[in-house]
Amino acid sequence: MGNTIHTRSGLQRLLWPWKPESDKEAGDAIVKNMLLHWFPARIAKASLAWNYSFYLGTISFFLFLILVGTGLVLMFLYVPSVERAYSSVKDIEFVVSFGWMLRGMHRMAAHLMVATVFLHMIRVFLTGAYKNGSAAGANRPLNWIIGLVLLVCTLLLSFTGYLLPWDQLAYWAITVGTNIASAAPVAGEATRFLLLGGTTIDQPALIRFYVLHVFFLPVAVLVLFAWHMWRIRKDGGLAAVDREARSVKAEAAPPVRTKTYSLLGVVGGESVHVRNTVMDEERDTVSSSPHLVRRLVFVALLTLIAVAVLTVIFPAPLETPADPSVTPNPAKAPWYFLWLQEIVTITTVTIGSFTINGALVGGVILPGLLFALGVWWPYRDRSGSGAVGVWFAPERKTANRVFLLICLLIIILTIVGTFMRGPYWHLYWPWETWPDMPVRF
Ligand code: HEM
Repeated sequence: MGNTIHTRSGLQRLLWPWKPESDKEAGDAIVKNMLLHWFPARIAKASLAWNYSFYLGTISFFLFLILVGTGLVLMFLYVPSVERAYSSVKDIEFVVSFGWMLRGMHRMAAHLMVATVFLHMIRVFLTGAYKNGSAAGANRPLNWIIGLVLLVCTLLLSFTGYLLPWDQLAYWAITVGTNIASAAPVAGEATRFLLLGGTTIDQPALIRFYVLHVFFLPVAVLVLFAWHMWRIRKDGGLAAVDREARSVKAEAAPPVRTKTYSLLGVVGGESVHVRNTVMDEERDTVSSSPHLVRRLVFVALLTLIAVAVLTVIFPAPLETPADPSVTPNPAKAPWYFLWLQEIVTITTVTIGSFTINGALVGGVILPGLLFALGVWWPYRDRSGSGAVGVWFAPERKTANRVFLLICLLIIILTIVGTFMRGPYWHLYWPWETWPDMPVRF
């Protein structure tokens, strides 16, 4: 691997002024930087391809960073007390300079994060990236499970934030959401009591949601994310690398002792990267700096711009203050739980004197079953190593179809719940006007 002098166009120099003059300089840029040294010094071209990962995990993480950034400023302004929460949010919205933008971006990033994490999971499944490849010590099924826990944390992060504005939307969405969850046999009521700090949504609930929202859940996401990324390194990189390595017939390169950037390589006397793949370094990999770093900066900027633009187009709503005595009709859970609310409705059936408890089916059994299936699946999937890191591998056709069908049903039910449910949970077309309803006290 000799020193490579790169020639660059004027536009490239304008967009990205720094360019290493040699592979050593490129490697040093990664190794000597505290943040960048997370990454390997060289990275497979296959991992960088836009149409492999669509950078959905990366986007999810940048959205999380936007949430932390805007959230920290919001903490200076928001007061988690039943008497003052609503007015402090109103001040943020109407008094604080650019407060509406700050709050709007926080809310928009939260919605988008739920959506991108879900899409990221779909991508990982359809590329068979939860399966082990050739790397020694790989445990991709574990990383899939860490991902599932991250998904649950993301949903809880969003759910706990929903209550904080203490307006009608927040109050009733959390009422519906926690009522669904309380249907679990034995532990349901107790869990709701523990979460709310009582039987009603009041000050103890607000402070519990607040502490979970600003401390425990973000820390959980950070720790799990660090583990998620570390696993990717240990698993030999993204699954696309395995696909690429299979197609390369070259012999494994001998260990390179000068490669001190791989910690395990130093300990074991060889680089994990070299041991795990049979790829040609020069041809199949590029230096992470600038190739990966440049893409990450690009994705980060695009994510930030998208959140800002969407916030201007769809500002955050703020309804009238929470009023436990006035029930909105319909009262809806947050949108990402509406598919469950739909299932609760569909499965609440009375046959003679017997009533099926829909809340138990939709709120507990079904999500529990789906989570358990998700944990079990990577160990059950017997497709060959040829299906790892490949979009729509023919070997996993049936699994992909079933998975997509489940996702499609979730999406359709979410759309029905969001746009087509009106007063008394009756169905309306999105363009139909709802009849005037007397307010229920
Ligand atoms: C907060 C949520 C999450 C974040 C921030 C996150 C972040 C990431 C990132 C940055 C990557 C590298 C590739 C990429 O950019 O797409 C990745 C890969 C991966 N993620 Fe996630 N992820 C999250 C949730 C999930 C979920 C819900 C699952 C599955 C249930 C999952 C499973 C995986 C797996 C198996 C890989 C390796 C993919 C491969 O080898 O191609 N992640 N994740």
